[in-house]
Amino acid sequence: MRTTTGYDAPGDLAQREALLRAALDPLRIPRHVAIIMDGNGRWAEIRGLSRVEGHRAGREAIRRTLEAARECGIEILTLYAFSTENWRRPPQEVQALMDLLVETLGREAEELHRNGVRFRASGLLDEMPGAVRAALDQVVALTCRNTAITLNLALNYGGRRELTEAARRLARAAAAGHVRPEDITEEVLGRFLFAPDLPDPDLLIRTGGEQRLSNFLLWQVAYAELYFTDVHWPDFQKVHLLEAIASFQARDRRFGGLDCG
Ligand code: FPP
Repeated sequence: MRTTTGYDAPGDLAQREALLRAALDPLRIPRHVAIIMDGNGRWAEIRGLSRVEGHRAGREAIRRTLEAARECGIEILTLYAFSTENWRRPPQEVQALMDLLVETLGREAEELHRNGVRFRASGLLDEMPGAVRAALDQVVALTCRNTAITLNLALNYGGRRELTEAARRLARAAAAGHVRPEDITEEVLGRFLFAPDLPDPDLLIRTGGEQRLSNFLLWQVAYAELYFTDVHWPDFQKVHLLEAIASFQARDRRFGGLDCG
């Protein structure tokens, strides 16, 4: 049930959450969930707040979603935190996002570690500011042996850039005689991507009402189930993740083959 303000009353949320939890098939939880966290700016605008306040509220949604993902048994959560295109935003907003990142990594490192989260980042990290790189390195090193869930933050990430970099490195390997062009397969190219050890996402969620990929994981989402919701990212609650998983479980995944069942 929705209230007249359009927002869910807490009691309703808890009830929906409990119902969904009971209904989900624990054997068919998506292993890897990727999220395009959109709508921070609009969430803030509606409330007469600055865009940066929207990103701050978005950070709380990350906390909730990570906790819900761990509780559900999702193994990997990849979040699109900063794209290669986001540098085009006003410099104050870019700076505020970088500051928020450094502040959050410093503040949350111990808690991530305590909760068994293995933290990773993927993207053109060498092109990130030094303070961000240092903060990332610290949390990656602290949490590298954890096994409860992997949180992979896509930072300075762009799918086309990832593929371009992979092609460049592959061409160098071929020129050096390490690989023959005829031996290049999907598997070989996959080894040159930013996070070659992570499996492809099973489910891609985009919040904020738009229905596009925005250059996110172009190679890896080839067979992912796509789920779009109008909920702005700062409003994203545990129940919304459960709803996305329920939708995922209702789909028939054929990976291009025929369903013989
Ligand atoms: C998109 O909303 C969101 C981003 C560009 C950044 C995501 C960042 C966070 C969730 C903040 C915290 C992150 C960390 C890791 C500390 P938008 O600004 O494009 O929203 P709009 O489409 O409504 O303008």
